[in-house]
Amino acid sequence: MTRRDLAVIVVAAGRGERLKASAPKAFVEINGQTILEHSLSPLSTLADLAQVVIAAPSTHLAEATEIANSVLSTDATLDVVVGGDTRQQSIANALAVISDDIEIVLVHDAARAFASASLFERIISAVRSTRASVVPALEIADTIKRVSGSEVLETVDRSALRSAQTPQGFIAADLKRAYANAGDDFTDDAALMQSQGKKVSFVAGEVEAAKITTPDDLSGVLSRLNGPGRTGIGVDVHRFSADATKKLFLGTIEWPGVPGLDGHSDGDAVSHAIVDALLSAAGLGDIGSNFGVDRPEFAGANGSVFLTETVRMVRAAGFEIVNASVQIIGNRPKVSTKRAEAETALTKLVGAPVTVGATTTDGLGFLGNDEGVAAVASALINKVEARLGS
Ligand code: CTP
Ligand code: MG
Repeated sequence: MTRRDLAVIVVAAGRGERLKASAPKAFVEINGQTILEHSLSPLSTLADLAQVVIAAPSTHLAEATEIANSVLSTDATLDVVVGGDTRQQSIANALAVISDDIEIVLVHDAARAFASASLFERIISAVRSTRASVVPALEIADTIKRVSGSEVLETVDRSALRSAQTPQGFIAADLKRAYANAGDDFTDDAALMQSQGKKVSFVAGEVEAAKITTPDDLSGVLSRLNGPGRTGIGVDVHRFSADATKKLFLGTIEWPGVPGLDGHSDGDAVSHAIVDALLSAAGLGDIGSNFGVDRPEFAGANGSVFLTETVRMVRAAGFEIVNASVQIIGNRPKVSTKRAEAETALTKLVGAPVTVGATTTDGLGFLGNDEGVAAVASALINKVEARLGS
């Protein structure tokens, strides 16, 4: 049987000045969902949840309500209140609408967008068993120094230190009383409780509940969510042309003294292999499905045309390109003569490092017979979907 005596306050009213986004922090998108939406998603799993209160900026009350309604699959009541000038004031505004029959209240920073449902459960059960205030806390890995100006005064014993997170859990009546008597402004509710002599205990926090404060924090979250990236592979082969006047283009640059390659375009196997590697990494099909021979605008086209459009498509699909690597297989051209030039041209087009290598087939097969040139490419891309507001 559920008790339905739990309320969760999510504070999302900060401006996010340190994140330097144009939208308030809780309304910045990560992988297509706002930080507020991410932070609310564990709430639906909490069995005893009776009430959710969100403190939002006055400009974003409707948006916060819409987000909460879309993500909360629970019959808990929802209130959205205007935040205050400080975190503490935002919580005071939220506490004012907590209903009288709520026994336990959790206060959570929307900015800790990826705190897990099990962390919430851990806090709730500790508050139930201790009947006191409980915070999640993590051990500190770095050696901690006390400083003054540019001078290090001493090394602090870190074994007695923890960094505190949210959600923090309280007996609702105790927290309300502490807020009613609040004098100073504190950065968390545990500090407010302790300023009035109340006991606070801690349980293990989690890395996922780290607060997103700076652009670096956001990058870290993105690479944790989306890393280690996606790879793609591409292969292309073209035959040397019987037309002796045809020029050879590989990696978008010209290689004098070697016959050109046949193909619907200019036969640039290197560029085409990179295009296929990028498209396959992004799940966007291949060169044939995107730039088929039925499209006359690509007849004779330089590899840069395909690469430029491919890079645009991959980025539009929400990826950044980490690097690409291509190997040319064949007797000719002698790649070492123009390797640096090809790498520079390709790196510029792709917007990420492109390396070019080469090998022969020891005289074996159609490449050993000098019938044409093959290229094999790989690419690494990363999903980077953060929208910092419009
Ligand atoms: N918060 C709030 N009301 C405020 C200030 C902060 O509700 N007046 C909330 C934030 O939305 C955030 C949490 O408190 O979820 C922790 O605050 P912080 O990380 O400092 O967020 P911001 O104040 O938005 O960021 P900054 O200090 O960089 O402006
Ligand atoms: Mg702040």
